[in-house]
Amino acid sequence: MRTIVTLTMNPALDVSTSIHSVAPEIKLRCAAPGFHPGGGGINVARAVHFLGGKACAVYAAGGHTGEKLRQLLTDEGIDQLALPIAGTTRESFTCYEDSSGLQYRFTLPGPALSQPEWRACLDASLDLQPDYLVVSGSLPKGVPNDFYAQLAIRARAQQCRLLIDSGGDALQAAGKTGVFLLKPNLRELERLAGETLADEAQIKQAARRLIESGMTEAVLVSLGAAGAALATRADYVSLRAPIVPIRSKVGAGDCMVGGLALALAQGRNLLDAARFGVAAGSAAVMTPGTQLCRKDDAERLYAQMAKPPLVPP
Ligand SMILES: Nc1ncnc2c1ncn2[C@@H]1O[C@H](COP(=O)(O)OP(=O)(O)OP(=O)(O)O)[C@@H](O)[C@H]1O
Ligand SMILES: [Mg+2]
Repeated sequence: MRTIVTLTMNPALDVSTSIHSVAPEIKLRCAAPGFHPGGGGINVARAVHFLGGKACAVYAAGGHTGEKLRQLLTDEGIDQLALPIAGTTRESFTCYEDSSGLQYRFTLPGPALSQPEWRACLDASLDLQPDYLVVSGSLPKGVPNDFYAQLAIRARAQQCRLLIDSGGDALQAAGKTGVFLLKPNLRELERLAGETLADEAQIKQAARRLIESGMTEAVLVSLGAAGAALATRADYVSLRAPIVPIRSKVGAGDCMVGGLALALAQGRNLLDAARFGVAAGSAAVMTPGTQLCRKDDAERLYAQMAKPPLVPP
């Protein structure tokens, strides 16, 4: 079993509650809050854990919210390395409106990191000598635009495969050295490509261009209910998502990346790992609220996907 580390530069303490109906101006009295760890890489590590694997979550944390985040991860039994920062970890606030079934999600920017702080995160995640390093989520203020490029250079030098699930301009800067895999959704791929992508042929072409530019060896484009597409230099494969009852889409992307990383760490090939990622993403959709995926759901969906399609009578 190879090792997985996730890096989250801008984690969050997720606070969730519910109310009968949301209205302006009046005091909104909400139900008792629930607290959960949040932030891309942190949720990827949690997804790996729920899928039966092991990943160490490295993240920047500060203040009482940072301490609460550390405690919640300890309670869940997640391996972690919290790097202290002077600022206070942000909170994300989700409120379910019972009358409509709608969800209101508020996210805040998070504290700026100083140079020693972001460098400590970068150093610590690579010093763990992971085989797979997953960087996921937004970059906070203070982190330079060449952050991914610096990571990519260091990762390559120590034969660590870097997987990035993040939008934003900093990704472009990773381009020169190249990473192992990018996991954009359609919107993020359009942003990287600098154009709208209207059909599968255009998606394929955009993914191919990223690979040919040297930015990445592989692109796993997630397409929500439609599944995903895996592009490498040699291949382009569409992966249809299984049809599942939809409870909440929160965490689908993180579970997909968690499933992918776990399967790769188990030594499975990239296509098989991507398929398990799709299954884990779809398993996340089956759980309510902010709950991530369940192992038995992911494995059952994966087994269904691996079967040849039914031939109509
Ligand atoms: N409605 C759905 N039905 C089945 N599977 C789904 C559905 N929505 C998402 N998935 C699964 O989850 C994976 C990732 O979803 P999506 O493409 O929405 O990622 P994302 O936009 O990065 O999500 P996130 O908002 O969590 O970052 C999909 O490839 C698919 O396997
Ligand atoms: Mg995403």
